[in-house]
Amino acid sequence: MSRILISGRTGQVGYELERSLQGLGEVIALDRSQMDLSDLQQVRDVIRSVKPTLIINPAAYTAVDQAEREPELALRINGEAPGVIAEEAKKLGAVLIHYSTDYVFDGKKDEPYTETDPTCPLNVYGSSKLAGEQAIQATGVAHLILRTSWVYSTHGKNFLLTMRRLAAERDSLNVVSDQYGAPTWSRTIADTTAHIVAQSLTAEDSKAWWEEKSGLYHLTAQGKTSWFGFAEAIMAHPSVIKKPQLTAIPARDYPVPAQRPTNSLLSSQRLLNTFCGLPHWQDALALCQS
Ligand SMILES: NC(=O)c1ccc[n+]([C@@H]2O[C@H](COP(=O)([O-])OP(=O)(O)OC[C@H]3O[C@@H](n4cnc5c(N)ncnc54)[C@H](OP(=O)(O)O)[C@@H]3O)[C@@H](O)[C@H]2O)c1
Repeated sequence: MSRILISGRTGQVGYELERSLQGLGEVIALDRSQMDLSDLQQVRDVIRSVKPTLIINPAAYTAVDQAEREPELALRINGEAPGVIAEEAKKLGAVLIHYSTDYVFDGKKDEPYTETDPTCPLNVYGSSKLAGEQAIQATGVAHLILRTSWVYSTHGKNFLLTMRRLAAERDSLNVVSDQYGAPTWSRTIADTTAHIVAQSLTAEDSKAWWEEKSGLYHLTAQGKTSWFGFAEAIMAHPSVIKKPQLTAIPARDYPVPAQRPTNSLLSSQRLLNTFCGLPHWQDALALCQS
């Protein structure tokens, strides 16, 4: 029987993971008050007392612009804590599944990024997440690092809910049209994670299975759009009654503290070849909004 420890249960991905992992083991999902990733000793203590066989870590410092003002805190939560979690997992002989981001890249490539492309974060958040990846890899723990992008959900802070709120409040909206990516529903991330965990449970030698599959994978919905295209698709849904006029603008006309990559597209081919399929972003969005 696996014992699955999930961090950040209040987040977009954490919330869905707690639901998707049911039936695959004993699920212990914790919020920030129970395991605070900025308190590295508490992280160690909690893992030592829970003694999980699998740790899934969706908790992160995700306030991208605020991170420019709080680089030390972002680095502790996103960079150091994953290393501590990995060290503790390694000591227990547990597996670690961790999430990372398209923001580890500078977005200058024309094609979707693969796992072997060189990283070059443009902002503090991206640098801190890259540090987390490297800290995990350095421990030699059996792990999956799943890089995703443009996460949305029916709760929390995200582009989908912001657009739906603004649609009700405004008659017109300016939306950036020259940054590209794949909007990814948090449920797609959680269900894919659960699918992978389920596969591991059917392996004859699960330890050998995790060691063989261990590594870095991109996990995003399929297809490509811009923030403007994403906004158009959100507004097209029948549940959005009042539809504002959308105007496409360049990113330079929407200044924010943290620089974002122009191309956020990640190729999920490695995950598709190794584990399972992924939905097109438009299909997942339709399901999420239904
Ligand atoms: N959101 C995106 O667009 C996006 C894109 C690419 C990759 N990712 C990655 O995907 C993963 C999941 O992101 P998400 O969208 O689910 O994030 P989210 O909705 O912002 O949730 C973040 C979670 O982390 C928790 N958290 C923050 N600081 C913490 C701390 N010091 N100790 C413990 N928990 C803490 C939050 O708790 P509170 O509720 O208490 O704040 C929340 O449960 C993260 O690794 C993120 O970097 C996200």
